Amino acid sequence: MIVTTKQLFEISYQKFAIGAYNINNMEQTLGLFRGNMQSKAPFIIQISKGARKYAEVKMLEAMIRAADELFPDAIFAVHLDHGDEEACYDCIDSGFYSSVMIDASHFPLEENIAITKRVVERAHAKGISVEAELGKLGGVEEDIKVDEKHALLTDPNEAKEFVKRSGCDSLAVAIGTSHGMYKFKGSQGLHFERISEIQKLLPKFPLVMHGSSSVPQEEVRRINAAGGKLDPSARGVDEDEFAKAIPLGVTKVNIDTDGRMVWTRVHREFFRDTPEGIDFRTPGKTYIKEYADFIAHKNEKLLSAGKLDQVRTQLS
Ligand code: G3H
Ligand code: 13P
Ligand code: ZN
Repeated sequence: MIVTTKQLFEISYQKFAIGAYNINNMEQTLGLFRGNMQSKAPFIIQISKGARKYAEVKMLEAMIRAADELFPDAIFAVHLDHGDEEACYDCIDSGFYSSVMIDASHFPLEENIAITKRVVERAHAKGISVEAELGKLGGVEEDIKVDEKHALLTDPNEAKEFVKRSGCDSLAVAIGTSHGMYKFKGSQGLHFERISEIQKLLPKFPLVMHGSSSVPQEEVRRINAAGGKLDPSARGVDEDEFAKAIPLGVTKVNIDTDGRMVWTRVHREFFRDTPEGIDFRTPGKTYIKEYADFIAHKNEKLLSAGKLDQVRTQLS
């Protein structure tokens, strides 16, 4: 059942986080639904602009509709990930999406507010909620000074003003994470003090954590043992830190890179171990199962596992 993102946030705020997982193909979609059913968790399906181009919008939407029929107990929202204005309007007008993300964080503050406000007006008129972004998701440049690093994080006062003036429904905040495999070096991690300061100024307001993959070392090792060449120093978010971020208002946690690593490991090991194989359904089957187990594991860490019945009751 497709529900609104707003409903999921109202139920989960400060209790558990909703896992937001990107999809690009059928195997990922099946694994995603199976994993959420296995762990009895509500979830958000994310579609990026890249996914819309790769798999075709119609195909993605048809897969989601089909999965909704195949898994009648599933409770989920459909979200546009990292949209620009054009993609947001397209999704808002399609009537299929529960929420959109307008990513205008690379524009100066006033422009980010103006763009977000325009999207909010169009979205709210159709009952769709809007995630915006403020701050710069950091990289791992070694030479960056602590003060410079902090300047990239979301400023709490600016966040308060941004939310008030733009009217957005949730906010992606820069709290130390970044996209992809290379987030941290050494003992770097989430900036809990910054999340806490933002939450104090924006109580009851859902915060979104992008770049939340954990880049498991064992996954890097297995991919490299099967012919990959990933930098073994790659570090992600400690998944035990999700539980600490939830009481501070982190309500949506975006995970994509870790799922790509599952795909890469399964397929590299298949090609290494089965040089005579040409039936792509063999690694496909393994991947669907492994991806489902991966999703169930993440949901345990996000504390959303086991919450499906409670969500269903609260929705009715
Ligand atoms: O944050 C971006 C997501 O990982 C989606 O990536 O734009 O390559 O589909 P993508
Ligand atoms: P990761 O690259 O850490 O998986 O982040 C995904 C994300 O933020 C999607 O919007
Ligand atoms: Zn992101």
